[in-house]
Amino acid sequence: MLSMRVDPLRTMDELVAEFGDVVELKVPGDTFLLVAAADAAEQLLKPPDPERMRKGHAIQRVKRVLGNGLLTADGPGYLRRRRLAQPAFQPRTLDAYVPTTVEHVSQLVGSLTSGDVLDVEQAMDRLTLRIAGHTMFGVELGEERERRIHEALGVVRASFVPGLHPLAPMLEHLPLPIVRRFERAKADLVEIVDWIIAQRHADPKAAERTDVLSLLLGSKDADGTGLSDTELRDEAMVLLLAGHETTANALAWTSYLLAATPHAQAELQAQVDAVLADAEAPDASHVPQLTYARAAFTEALRLYPSGSVVARRSLDPLDMTWTDPDGSPRRMHVRAGTEIMMSQWNVQRDVRTWGEDAAVYRPERMLDQANEARHRHSFLAFGGGRRVCIGRAFATQQATITLAMLARRFRFELQPGMELPSRDRVETGFILRPRDGMHLVVRER
Ligand code: HEM
Repeated sequence: MLSMRVDPLRTMDELVAEFGDVVELKVPGDTFLLVAAADAAEQLLKPPDPERMRKGHAIQRVKRVLGNGLLTADGPGYLRRRRLAQPAFQPRTLDAYVPTTVEHVSQLVGSLTSGDVLDVEQAMDRLTLRIAGHTMFGVELGEERERRIHEALGVVRASFVPGLHPLAPMLEHLPLPIVRRFERAKADLVEIVDWIIAQRHADPKAAERTDVLSLLLGSKDADGTGLSDTELRDEAMVLLLAGHETTANALAWTSYLLAATPHAQAELQAQVDAVLADAEAPDASHVPQLTYARAAFTEALRLYPSGSVVARRSLDPLDMTWTDPDGSPRRMHVRAGTEIMMSQWNVQRDVRTWGEDAAVYRPERMLDQANEARHRHSFLAFGGGRRVCIGRAFATQQATITLAMLARRFRFELQPGMELPSRDRVETGFILRPRDGMHLVVRER
C-alpha cells in the first residue's frame, strides 16, 4: 500500500501484471480492491441498487473543499441534485455556450506570438475557468480572483495525498502549517463563490438569466422550499471548480501529445481548415464536424485521464464477475464496505481492448469502426452509470473548439530536448500531470 501512495501508476501496472484484473490488497483493518477489467467496472458503475453503492473514501477529502454538492453528494437526495443541474448540460443549452467559448479562445489565440514558450497548463486553466465563470454563472471573475482560485487549488492539491493518511483526521485539528494553508485556501474559495452569488442577487436582470445559477436559485422541492444558502454554495462550488481544472488538464495533455505527434497535428490542421473554410470563427454547426479535434482530446484522456481511479464502496456484499485474459469466467465475493478502485489508467491502456499499440497516442482509433465495438466501460475517464460526469459533453465541446481555433493559426512544438514524460515523471495526487510541467513552443503556421 505504501508504494501505491508513492508511485501509484507503476504499482498499479505491476499489480495487474502479476495478479490479474482484480487485485485484493489487505492492510490492517481494511481491504482494497483494484479493478482493471471493464466488465467488472460495469457492475460497480451500474449496480442493481445504485442507492447502495457509494463513493470511495477520498470523496470525504474532496468534500472538505467542495462541500456537499453534486459531485460529492451520496445517498438519498442525490438524484434531486442531479435532476436540478441536468438542464444546464443539455445539447441545446450547450450550443448556447459556444459563442462565449469562442470569444475566450479568441482572446487566448490573440495573445500568442510565434516563438512564445507557453505554459500550456496555466493557459488552459485560465481559459476554462473564464469559460466556466461566464457560461455557468454569468460573471467576469477578473484576474485577481482567477489568481486566488489558482493558488487555492494549488494548496488543496498539495494537501490531497497527505489528507488520505490514516492519521489525517487527527492532524487536521492541530495548527500545522499545511492545515492552516488548507483552511485559508478553502476560505478563499468560499468567499469567491459567495461573491458570485451576491453578484446575482444584486443583478437587476437576474430574472432573465437562464444559466446554472438561475436554475439553482429557482429550484423548488415538492413542498416549495428551495436550496438553502449552504446547498447553493456547495453546488456552485462544484460546478465552478470540478469541471474547469479537469478540462484544462486534458487540454494541456492533448496539446502536449499533439506536439509530440506531428502527423496527428497535421491531420487536425487539415480537417480544421476544411471544416471552418472561410468562416471567421466556429459556431455550433461546426462543432460536430470537427471530429479529429474531438478524437484528439478523447484519445489524450484515454492515455492521461485526469484522475487515475474511480472509487466506490458498496453498502452490501456483492458477487463480482469478470472474464480473465484466457476467456475463463471469474467470480469474487466482495465484503460490504470494501474500498474499490476502478483503474482508469489500466483499463484505458489494456492491450486486449486497445491493441498492441495501446500506449501510443493515435486519435484515429477513436474514429475507427472498432471503437464502436469496444466495451462501453473500457473508457472510464468520465466515470459511468448514473454518476457519469455531467459535464462530459461540455468539456468535449470546449476542447473541440479550443483545439480547432489554436490549430487554425498555430502549431505546437516540444521544446528542444523535451519528450513525453515517462510513467515515473507523471504526478498523480489530485490530477495526472507531468512533474516538470508542460511548456510548448508556439509557431505560426
Ligand atoms: C475532461 C474534463 C472532465 C473529466 C475528465 C471529468 C471526470 C469526471 C469523472 C471521472 C466523474 C465521475 C466521478 C465518480 O463517479 O466518482 C465526474 C463527475 C462529475 N463531473 Fe466531471 N469531468 C470533466 C469535466 C467536467 C465539467 C466541465 C463539469 C461541469 C461544468 C464537471 C462536473 C462534474 C460533476 C458535477 C460530476 C458529478 C456527477 C454526479 O455524480 O452526478 N466535470 N467527472
